[in-house]
Amino acid sequence: MRVLLTGSAGFIGFHTARRLLAEGIEVVGFDNFNPYYDATLKERRNQQLEGHDGFRLVRGDLTDPQALDRAFELLGSGDDTRVCHLAAQAGVRHSIEHPEDFVRDNLVGFNNVIERVRRREVGGLVYASTSSIYGDQDVERLHEELPTDRQASLYGVTKKANELQAGVYHRLYGLRSTGLRFFTVYGPWGRPDMALFLFTDAILHDRPIKVFGHGEMQRDFTYVDDITQGVAAALRRNYELEIINLGRGKTEQLMRYIEIIEQCCGKEAEKQFLPMQPGDMRRTSADTGKAQRLLEYAPSTDIDVGVPRFVDWYREYHGV
Ligand SMILES: NC(=O)c1ccc[n+]([C@@H]2O[C@H](COP(=O)([O-])OP(=O)(O)OC[C@H]3O[C@@H](n4cnc5c(N)ncnc54)[C@H](O)[C@@H]3O)[C@@H](O)[C@H]2O)c1
Repeated sequence: MRVLLTGSAGFIGFHTARRLLAEGIEVVGFDNFNPYYDATLKERRNQQLEGHDGFRLVRGDLTDPQALDRAFELLGSGDDTRVCHLAAQAGVRHSIEHPEDFVRDNLVGFNNVIERVRRREVGGLVYASTSSIYGDQDVERLHEELPTDRQASLYGVTKKANELQAGVYHRLYGLRSTGLRFFTVYGPWGRPDMALFLFTDAILHDRPIKVFGHGEMQRDFTYVDDITQGVAAALRRNYELEIINLGRGKTEQLMRYIEIIEQCCGKEAEKQFLPMQPGDMRRTSADTGKAQRLLEYAPSTDIDVGVPRFVDWYREYHGV
């Protein structure tokens, strides 16, 4: 199997690339290293990947036809080729202020990728979807059969559009795809705009943390190594057309998450309790039954193990 991995300098893309390379799979990375967050972090992740023989990078934007064509040339075509499309504009909060970024990267970008998968006869597509697809639903567990027509953010809407387009391309052209709905992913080399990074950074530098939803939010926090196991399995299985949740399958209180971060930092945080932010969901809770059945997905890392790994990485990376 050979894989074109978009978003390879991103958080989940970097970990996915490492896993695939360790399994002896050739990876063509693709990323524009955009400055949505500190691009140095993306460069540092990429430097680690460049050290592998099986890795080649194309620097470029999803909206640049020539750059994408170069990457697809390197991938080639046939049954043993896959595209793993993880590049996107993420961040629910950013989608309130900059909807145009989401239309460009997530709608136009996705179309450019899936069109090439079709025209160049690539063996299959695996792409990142999100728990934000579900919107705020008052159910015990979010499972794939629930209705998903009331997202709380434009971010969720663009990912829903990706799922719909993948469905149509299967019906029209027989294009094989698997959409993976990730639930709040965290771990070393994580994203600076996400809660774990923001909280750790603030606590270690004696700044107050902003706790939205008055601390009453609940999340299904998923450790990145569990996610990449699911992504690698989806690439291998290459189903006809599937949408699958990838979460930990365990819902945690935001305040418990903060408590573990405080223990790791050896300090109590000064907390500013604030209302929910527009676009956020109160609670996420993944039903992972389908992933277990179809991908032998077996998430195993709880936050009391995963959060310390992040904080250790953060301290070493930033020398604090
Ligand atoms: N991290 C999470 O909790 C989470 C949850 C649900 C879904 N997702 C999805 O998983 C995927 C990966 O997320 P992540 O957390 O690694 O985010 P990330 O921002 O770290 O990674 C995305 C990468 O894509 C690149 N990129 C963005 N737009 C691009 C463009 N137009 N052209 C080329 N490269 C571009 C960015 O430079 C970045 O390196 C995204 O599709 C995201 O929506 C993430």
